[in-house]
Amino acid sequence: MTTAKPDRPTGRILVVGGYGAVGATVTSALSEWFPGRVVPGGRDESRAQRHGGVRVDVTDLDSFRHTLDSLGDVTMMVLCVEPPDASVARACLERGIHVVDIGATQHLLDGVAELHDLATSAGATAVLSVGVAPGLTNLLARRAHDAVGGAERLDLTVLLGSGERHGTDAVRWTVDGLAAERITARSIRTALPGYGIRTVHPFPFSDQHTLRRTLGVAEITTRMCLDSRLLTGLLFALRRAGLLRAARLHTVRTTLTEVFRRVHIGGDGFGIRADARRGDRHVAYTINGQAQSRVTGLVAAYVARELLTNTAPVGVHHIEELPALADLPEALEAHGVMLRRLDGRQES
Ligand SMILES: NC(=O)c1ccc[n+]([C@@H]2O[C@H](COP(=O)([O-])OP(=O)(O)OC[C@H]3O[C@@H](n4cnc5c(N)ncnc54)[C@H](OP(=O)(O)O)[C@@H]3O)[C@@H](O)[C@H]2O)c1
Repeated sequence: MTTAKPDRPTGRILVVGGYGAVGATVTSALSEWFPGRVVPGGRDESRAQRHGGVRVDVTDLDSFRHTLDSLGDVTMMVLCVEPPDASVARACLERGIHVVDIGATQHLLDGVAELHDLATSAGATAVLSVGVAPGLTNLLARRAHDAVGGAERLDLTVLLGSGERHGTDAVRWTVDGLAAERITARSIRTALPGYGIRTVHPFPFSDQHTLRRTLGVAEITTRMCLDSRLLTGLLFALRRAGLLRAARLHTVRTTLTEVFRRVHIGGDGFGIRADARRGDRHVAYTINGQAQSRVTGLVAAYVARELLTNTAPVGVHHIEELPALADLPEALEAHGVMLRRLDGRQES
């Protein structure tokens, strides 16, 4: 297996979206581990400069390339905002710059995955599905899949705290998910440690599509709920009635994003669960934590550190394809994240 070029010990780490809800954690964790090397970026020049960073816009490819070239010694980009397509990842990979991408939209991740040969020939590595969902869900799915000896079916569940101050870009992504075409999978009841038995609804997280390919499991559904039963019931009743499809219109999307950003009913905890089934074998793994934005940022920072300090295979990979990242849930226990395994019908 070809591995990535060893890190240049002085090369800089560009954190795009580096002062957002997720990016701020990435910037601070990496600054502690790699002092003087981290450059946070965003569109607001004065805000970027206040954080010791630069102006960068992922929707303007020429200026993005210019930023990379003027910084000159960037060895890694951590992408903490969703760009319109794979162009910024391409601009990095063709320069041999590693990419860590926290994106959660399937077609955007597929676009970066198509750059595998380019990354390989440039000696660079890109890691996709980085965060809580996708990210930790992929890692738990892989464990549960292995524990049953190859799952015939995987069910993933994500509970988000509606009291957390999620970033604008993450709320916009959730609104897009609520507005998506009708999803045919059914809602189910499942237990999430600390939250009791909840009704959870199919939601277009990218992990369920990625894992079909990386684990070879045909039947996978990711479902979600909020910690507030009231808000979950209301939102998914509106979705069932087709009333959230209007959010595909730009003004409705912007208004709904602003409304959801301001509604804080509930706490800031999150929970995820991955159930694997094969015949009568059933294993589930769960993770509980506080502040999904912070934990997403920590996952991205740990992945970036792994690429910068150890050899990783070149090319584009999802997190569950890199054995060196399999123990990341254990590493996060130092940050208050709790991992459990439930066997058979054991629930709590
Ligand atoms: N994988 C996961 O589990 C997971 C979890 C949470 C979030 N996410 C994804 O992470 C992304 C960020 O979420 P967030 O909660 O951190 O959002 P956020 O708080 O709105 O942060 C977005 C950041 O990106 C910058 N930005 C926005 N548009 C930009 C552009 N065109 N070019 C460069 N920078 C830009 C913003 O600063 P300026 O406004 O100054 O540009 C801000 O710093 C979302 O795409 C979300 O879907 C993934």
